[in-house]
Amino acid sequence: MESLAALTERALNEVVATDDLAQLDEVRVRWLGKKGLLTEQLKALGNLPAAERPAAGQLINVAKARVQEVLDQRLASLQAALLERQLAQGRVDVTLGGRGEQAGGLHPVTRARLRIERLFADIGFTVAQGPEIEDDFHNFTALNVPADHPARAMHDTFYVDPAHAGQGALLRTHTSPVQIRALRAGKPPLAVIAPGRVYRVDSDATHTPMFHQVEGLLVDTDVSFAQLKSVLHGFMEAFFERDLAMRLRPSYFPFTEPSAEVDISCVECGGKGCRLCKQTGWIEVLGCGMVHPQVLASCDVDPERYTGYAFGMGIDRLAMLRYGVNDLRLFFENDLRFLRQFRGG
Ligand code: FA5
Ligand code: MG
Repeated sequence: MESLAALTERALNEVVATDDLAQLDEVRVRWLGKKGLLTEQLKALGNLPAAERPAAGQLINVAKARVQEVLDQRLASLQAALLERQLAQGRVDVTLGGRGEQAGGLHPVTRARLRIERLFADIGFTVAQGPEIEDDFHNFTALNVPADHPARAMHDTFYVDPAHAGQGALLRTHTSPVQIRALRAGKPPLAVIAPGRVYRVDSDATHTPMFHQVEGLLVDTDVSFAQLKSVLHGFMEAFFERDLAMRLRPSYFPFTEPSAEVDISCVECGGKGCRLCKQTGWIEVLGCGMVHPQVLASCDVDPERYTGYAFGMGIDRLAMLRYGVNDLRLFFENDLRFLRQFRGG
């Protein structure tokens, strides 16, 4: 009869000679399975004198454990090799040129943003930018929202760990801090728009934790509320390429006085009332107002001499309305079936 050492040697040789997972499993069953050659050795223990059984049993178990160990190593290396092969087959050469009918398109939010930038550039606004990780001063204090002001609760703010970004660091909750940056960087007259990402602790069909706003700011001598209204109305009709009714509702923002929220007649039903406008015939698109004298002063602009208007609108909301998208979250899931509908221009 073959010795235990010889059996073990044979088993190990078979294990290392396998080159795929199926073979390895056959070897495992042949040696370690219920009726495996090593397992059978244990059953044969009954033929030995009782006194010799414990020691012999232990030797067999050691041999089985050794084979199992080498088998596990082989399994891991065969699995890794298989994964390598699968990855190599699935590899995409991103440097290859595109194929005509597979051409990509701009994301609908990007398209809406570019459209907004172009329309405001046409009437003399330049594009300004600010950081997404802001500080408390620019996002709140300089905008006339001091530390204990209840308006801070209007924005559910994401704060950044001070260990990483300094005391008072936060993700900007609106694009309004760019008003402060633009006013401090330049002197009036000034006309800027500032598109970009903003963040709030918020999530449902019409709110996402990250969304896009575009800020508008114009500061000069003798700027009036009537000018603000006319610029916004002209913009909305140009953006949607149709005649639209627009109305202003008195509202409150700490950084503008007076303040208003702007509604346009529903782009879906034209004002008759539908699900989109919740049967009101109107859709809220932005907040605006005359720049608060306190804000001008905090940027060293003389409020006796200068006046200005500002507005902030949700780019994603405008994109939803223009492209007929009913759930804001679709914009950020990046499902190709959704995005392909916007392929092209
Ligand atoms: C503001 O953020 C003010 N900074 C706007 C402003 C600027 C007023 C300048 C006066 C002067 P509000 O929180 O209402 O205001 O947001 C403005 C617009 O952003 C809303 O009308 C809406 O279109 C969009 N918006 C707000 N929250 C979300 C959200 N969670 N998801 C998507 N869009 C949103
Ligand atoms: Mg609002």
